[in-house]
Amino acid sequence: MVATEKYQSINFELTEEQIAVRDAAREFAQKELLPGVIERDDKQMFPKEQVRKMGELGFMGMMVSPEYGGGGMDTVSYVLAMEEISKIDASASVAMSVNNSLVCWGLEKYGTEEQKQKYLPRLASGEIIGAFCLSEPEAGSDATSQRTIAEDKGDYYLLNGTKNWITNGNSASVYLVIAQTDVEKKHKGINCLIVERDMEGFQVGKKEDKMGIRGSDTHSLMFTDVKVPKENRIGEDGFGFKFAMNTLNGGRIGIAAQALGIASGAMELAIKYSKERKAFGQEIHKHQAIAFKLADMATQIEAARLLCFKAAQLKDLGQDFSKYSAMAKLYASQVAMDVTTEAVQVHGGYGYVKEYHVERLMRDAKITQIYEGTSEIQKVVISRHVLND
Ligand code: CAA
Repeated sequence: MVATEKYQSINFELTEEQIAVRDAAREFAQKELLPGVIERDDKQMFPKEQVRKMGELGFMGMMVSPEYGGGGMDTVSYVLAMEEISKIDASASVAMSVNNSLVCWGLEKYGTEEQKQKYLPRLASGEIIGAFCLSEPEAGSDATSQRTIAEDKGDYYLLNGTKNWITNGNSASVYLVIAQTDVEKKHKGINCLIVERDMEGFQVGKKEDKMGIRGSDTHSLMFTDVKVPKENRIGEDGFGFKFAMNTLNGGRIGIAAQALGIASGAMELAIKYSKERKAFGQEIHKHQAIAFKLADMATQIEAARLLCFKAAQLKDLGQDFSKYSAMAKLYASQVAMDVTTEAVQVHGGYGYVKEYHVERLMRDAKITQIYEGTSEIQKVVISRHVLND
């Protein structure tokens, strides 16, 4: 721990409420997400009905205050629920993560009272879902290089540009769009605007045919002379880039928890298989080659989980958690890659076919090293802290 950081008490015990949230998410994932997950992946079907039910159960607006229709839960509970949902269906969990961390959290923290009243209750209940639109054809990691323009026209912004790889792209009703208003001011001239799906000039573009999270709805979006009222801007003029960075700090906890879930889901399958499958006259877990793999997986997963909890707890305590959310995402996403690859290996030839689920988890794991900042971006964030704190 760096000397400048505040003292952190350590309590590894979950509260009764947190355990109840985790168990409810586990039950939901087994009952409602597991049936059909292979078909949805195969056919690239968004889990629309399942996401609606997740809303009814309170998983789409977990941390939103009850005053705005949310669950008022802490970030540790969110990590627990994300892990359970991601064990089974990472396509459903990314819809959940974007809605919770990037859309609801940002709106509640920085929105006006009118914006919160207008959007949060419907977003938190899952009646509608949201999307966060930062990435562009030429602005992925280099997020300050926004080419989407929000021209200030007095009482409205005229929005023009294209966004890429937008999660919930075709399923969302509300889009938080980051755009450049004043090029001279660079990142201080960027704004975040709330765009509604039915605004004239807004168009959903091509759906991406992806390696993993194939049930997730990833699209490009086009904005052509979209008139966005001034009251739809979040925060002061020029706050958009800071809004995006602050929001992504929290989003990275959600994706770290997703990576954790993908890894722990794969490990559970590997343990089960190793107790069923026999080779050389005994169950394969009795061979040290397999038992040692399971030991490594379990150790990596536990370390990733502790980093997720640490980032979540710091956020709940109102302290700066940006270094730890980047660490959690960096580490958990690497663990997801390592553990899913080993889980496929434990399954041998069966691991390479869809029926056994681990090949999907291995494909899903990769995106956790890419979205909400690549692993390299997490290292930029962490190294800046390490060098400057
Ligand atoms: N938290 C808070 N503020 C931050 C920040 C952070 N993590 N990182 C940068 N900032 C602030 C800086 O303090 C600075 O503020 P001031 O002007 O007040 O000093 C401002 O932002 C500009 O910062 P930099 O000059 O450091 O900007 P940079 O261009 O050198 O680097 C970066 C910034 C960290 C590389 C940033 O561009 C970044 O995080 N890029 C990755 C973007 C990303 O995560 N995209 C994901 C898309 S969303 C998504 O994937 C959702 C989905 O579908 C699941």
